[in-house]
Amino acid sequence: MHIDLTGKTIFITGASRGLGKAIAWQLLESGAFVILHCNRHFEQLKKELLESGFAKYYLIKCDLSIESEVEIMAKSIIKDFPELGGVVLNAGVFKSHQIDSDIEEWKDVWKNTMQVNLNAPALLSRYFIPLFKKNRNGRFVFVASRAAFRGETSEYLAYAASKGGLISFGRSIARSFGKSGIKAFMLAPGFVDTDMAQSFSAIYGQEKILNELALNELTKPEDISPLVCLLLSGKMDHATGSTIDINAGSHIR
Ligand SMILES: NC(=O)c1ccc[n+]([C@@H]2O[C@H](COP(=O)([O-])OP(=O)(O)OC[C@H]3O[C@@H](n4cnc5c(N)ncnc54)[C@H](OP(=O)(O)O)[C@@H]3O)[C@@H](O)[C@H]2O)c1
Repeated sequence: MHIDLTGKTIFITGASRGLGKAIAWQLLESGAFVILHCNRHFEQLKKELLESGFAKYYLIKCDLSIESEVEIMAKSIIKDFPELGGVVLNAGVFKSHQIDSDIEEWKDVWKNTMQVNLNAPALLSRYFIPLFKKNRNGRFVFVASRAAFRGETSEYLAYAASKGGLISFGRSIARSFGKSGIKAFMLAPGFVDTDMAQSFSAIYGQEKILNELALNELTKPEDISPLVCLLLSGKMDHATGSTIDINAGSHIR
């Protein structure tokens, strides 16, 4: 099956590295016009895009931990790309806060994690849903985590909670706005070999991670990106509301 996304405009957050970058590249290769968001690695992504030869894209910078920046970005996308048809809410942080750490530090990690992983995607969705309703069409892909179902280790309580919230949020969108042409899909990856996973791997070791898998290899971003293209193509619309596990058999539910 050939997936052709020509004519579709898709916005993706966290496109500078890891999973987001692999998804963005796959969307570009499939012919979509892609609005790529990132923050700290803006210049690096700009350079990589120039070298890539892709022509149909727009690059946007925003710190998702700052609510006012999120609103400015949402408004500018709606104004400049009223034909927007797909949104991949992928950007996220995976910050550690030990239960016996200083209470102010613990609270800071909790708040920052919620802001980036849950509040920002929720606010962006709040801006895009009226546009999708007007267009009678729109697809969301929420990149959550296995942590939402299995739970995480004790230093990542905020992370797991934020991803649980994201899944509930996406499910409600699927139920509430399906009749208006809006579809919402949730992804629950297990460990994926990216920068984010390095901190976990550094503490627990690759062997422990591999031992938890049913397969022999770590999941790579490219093991997930084709599915996102399929979801955004419209060929999976009747799976709206679903959460798809991609965790190499490490948590089968
Ligand atoms: N890797 C895993 O094992 C794994 C497992 C399950 C779920 N996930 C989820 O998959 C998604 C992508 O993870 P990844 O492993 O690809 O992460 P990553 O390699 O650490 O990349 C994170 C991306 O999010 C962006 N980002 C982080 N904080 C931001 C902020 N405050 N404002 C704006 N952008 C911000 C980064 O942009 P800049 O670098 O430009 O700032 C970067 O593009 C996340 O939602 C993560 O929770 C990952």
